[in-house]
Amino acid sequence: MAGAPTNRGAPVDTRAMRAAMGGFATGVAVVTTRHDGVPHGMTVNSLTSVSLDPPLLLVCLTTGARTTDAVLSAGRFVVNVLAARQEHIALRFARRGEEHFAGLDVSRSGPHDLPVVPGALVHAECAVDRSTTAGDHVVVFGRVDSLCRTDATPLAFHGGRFADLRPHGEELDLWFA
Ligand SMILES: Cc1cc2nc3c(=O)[nH]c(=O)nc-3n(C[C@H](O)[C@H](O)[C@H](O)COP(=O)(O)O)c2cc1C
Repeated sequence: MAGAPTNRGAPVDTRAMRAAMGGFATGVAVVTTRHDGVPHGMTVNSLTSVSLDPPLLLVCLTTGARTTDAVLSAGRFVVNVLAARQEHIALRFARRGEEHFAGLDVSRSGPHDLPVVPGALVHAECAVDRSTTAGDHVVVFGRVDSLCRTDATPLAFHGGRFADLRPHGEELDLWFA
């Protein structure tokens, strides 16, 4: 059983919110796009699958970040779900203001020639379906129009650290019945 709650009644400031939500383990992805011929990318863990039919996902992107502006202007982006041992890619695309693509061997994919991260376990190419500002982020809904995936192990993120997943049990199919 979980221990007694800590921080009960404490004000919910940025640090408390970050610490609490850090308990929600996620995967890690890089959102990439190209605008005016310039590639952009940023590491995210706010990725959520929204709808199967039509296929929609969402990412929450910091208002005013370079990649956010590029995604909204280009109207298209790729979600690159990172595989285990791609921490270096996650860190590269999380450094604010740096040249994220410098020296990186990036491929291009699809008719829109968007940059994709090599070795990622999923590439989901999306058209921006809609976007809405929520607090200090922009929630961008993407309609997935092409997908490719491998069965590699994903990179995980929990409590502010990268982690390895240790799957156990059988794959659940009751969900999809
Ligand atoms: C594991 C991890 C997850 C992150 N998730 C998000 C996210 O979901 N949304 C976001 O706006 N920034 C997120 N960030 C921070 C951005 O990656 C970082 O601010 C990035 O450099 C901004 O891109 P820019 O250089 O285009 O401004 C995350 C960083 C890390 C390390």
